[in-house]
Amino acid sequence: GKPLIPYDEIGAETLSNLVDAFYARVSAHPQLAPIFPDDLTETARKQKQFLTQYLGGPNIYSAEHGHPRLKARHHPFPITPDRAQAWLECMSEAMDEVGLSGKFRETFFNRLVLTAHHMVNDYDSEE
Ligand code: HEM
Repeated sequence: GKPLIPYDEIGAETLSNLVDAFYARVSAHPQLAPIFPDDLTETARKQKQFLTQYLGGPNIYSAEHGHPRLKARHHPFPITPDRAQAWLECMSEAMDEVGLSGKFRETFFNRLVLTAHHMVNDYDSEE
């Protein structure tokens, strides 16, 4: 059949639910919560914009915030290998919660693994 844009495959509603389920876990995670703001409303809004374009949808993150420069935007936060792993666990559980499965989930998650590892900027601190 016709190749789908990943964003069209997941749909705006499921993507939004995924991000909400993800940050609910982040805010309860002992290693992640301390480096995030208490109110994750704006963080979730930006992440929905970012993942929309990451999955091939409209470039609504860049339209509002400019080039993602994701690694640079993470520099203020100590991202250890453990925190990258925790981020990915929260995302995997959120994917379970919203019912993502199969090839789509596998491909999406594998891309996030690479991006998460790229964000690591603190190899010293053991938490
Ligand atoms: C922002 C942590 C991985 C996308 C942030 C913020 C923190 C954070 C603390 C700032 C939140 C705020 O002030 O609103 C982490 C940690 C990661 C990780 C610990 C573990 C590896 C990722 C990955 C992606 C991502 C893999 C993309 C797939 C974003 C975006 C923002 C953000 C789009 C908002 C940037 C902005 O302010 O415009 N992250 N992050 N992060 N993160 Fe991550």
